[in-house]
Amino acid sequence: MIAVASDHGGFELKQAICALLQERGLDFVDMGTNDESSVDYPDFGRKVAEAVAEGRCSQGILVCGTGIGMSITANKVDGIRAALVHDSFTAQMAKEHNNANILVMGGRILSVDTGRKLVEIWLDSTFEAGRHQNRLDKIRQIETERSH
Ligand code: RB5
Repeated sequence: MIAVASDHGGFELKQAICALLQERGLDFVDMGTNDESSVDYPDFGRKVAEAVAEGRCSQGILVCGTGIGMSITANKVDGIRAALVHDSFTAQMAKEHNNANILVMGGRILSVDTGRKLVEIWLDSTFEAGRHQNRLDKIRQIETERSH
């Protein structure tokens, strides 16, 4: 199950992403927002991040205007590796090297076509593990050692 959400700045791209996931026959849950009225991105970023961190969803996709607010928010939740991507290379690396469990994009930066393409690249790429797993273990260690 893929959790998807946006704020108003990412609404148009989020709708296109939901359509893409539907076309591909993938299970997803649209956690809002539901129109272009102004909302606060942390409310939506948190929903997706908690769904992924708690195992209710296997991965997530978040969109705000720049992608910056959503990535800052999602990465506050332990176990989340949210990657803000801008192009094919960063979308591919986000999975191959970082095993990002949340993809983040800027709806005011990318065209709908590019955003859809980046989702497909991330979904279709595979984590390379090996030395990259070692690095993710070190990130996890930060969470463990700094938890209260
Ligand atoms: C909303 O105006 C905008 O700040 C938000 O979509 C996002 O870009 C924040 O990082």
